[in-house]
Amino acid sequence: MLIPHANLCPFFVPTPSSLSYEDCKATADWLLTQTDMRPTVGIVCGSGLGGLADLLKDQVAFNYEDIPNFPQSTVHGHAGRLVFGTMKGKPCVCMQGRFHLYEGYPIQKITLPMRVFKLLGVQTVVITNAAGGLNQDFKVGDIMIIKDHINLPGFAGNNPLVGPNDERFGVRFPCMSDAYDRDLQQLAMEVGQELGYGDFLKEGVYCVLGGPSFETIAECRMLHLLGVDAVGMSTVHEVIVARHCGMRVFALSLITNLAVTDYDSEEKANHEDVLQAGNQRAEQMEQLVSSVVNRIEPNNNYI
Ligand code: HPA
Repeated sequence: MLIPHANLCPFFVPTPSSLSYEDCKATADWLLTQTDMRPTVGIVCGSGLGGLADLLKDQVAFNYEDIPNFPQSTVHGHAGRLVFGTMKGKPCVCMQGRFHLYEGYPIQKITLPMRVFKLLGVQTVVITNAAGGLNQDFKVGDIMIIKDHINLPGFAGNNPLVGPNDERFGVRFPCMSDAYDRDLQQLAMEVGQELGYGDFLKEGVYCVLGGPSFETIAECRMLHLLGVDAVGMSTVHEVIVARHCGMRVFALSLITNLAVTDYDSEEKANHEDVLQAGNQRAEQMEQLVSSVVNRIEPNNNYI
């Protein structure tokens, strides 16, 4: 494909093989020949939350390395498998391990699985992540329903939709003020209350940074001033691409550590704590996700 002026944009990586509509379609079609499952819900497991995929019944699983055009997971705590199966009877597909900017992949490649989800027939995407809490009311182990995001790398032009737009996926300038489905947020609040999670179920704004270094104290203070409730290194790019191609989005952050905003603090963010906190709250995250999925209807309504 001839891409006019592509060399003028510092973030646009000229389309290597595996990013076009045809390539996404080839990946989806390959998967559809390997399984009879026709998922309507797509799930992305965050760091330490891969156990969500283990809830699926009648599993058909693929290692990322065996899927045509798929990137590979390089992060400890991310298994690298695409798992098809049913959750409370609903056909689902689950990414056990996701891709991040800091792994060095082009941003369009990180989000390729969202387009594959769409071409598999997925209507609703449920995304989870581990995040650092900035809201002073948050505690480690809180689950935050994401109501909005700040795409900080996007302010500098790092957006997965940069480059030629393929209308078969969506419009050139997609709206993001309705990125996180309000009905699903409300449903999750109700389900969370029913499960007795009221004390640790929160809602808020998630901000993505490029990583992999954790934030400095000054950066955490800045994010707090900006109204950010939780910070992480994922999710937002997937949400943008999922919304671009018309899927409904519901997203949750597990607060695995509290961002440090005080120069006297001895706390130091690290990946092991993130994974450990994930393990401790994994069961409740899984319960919440599966109960929400249970009440999503195939036509995108919920009961
Ligand atoms: N910062 C960025 N990403 C994270 C954090 C954090 O504090 N915790 C888990 N993922």
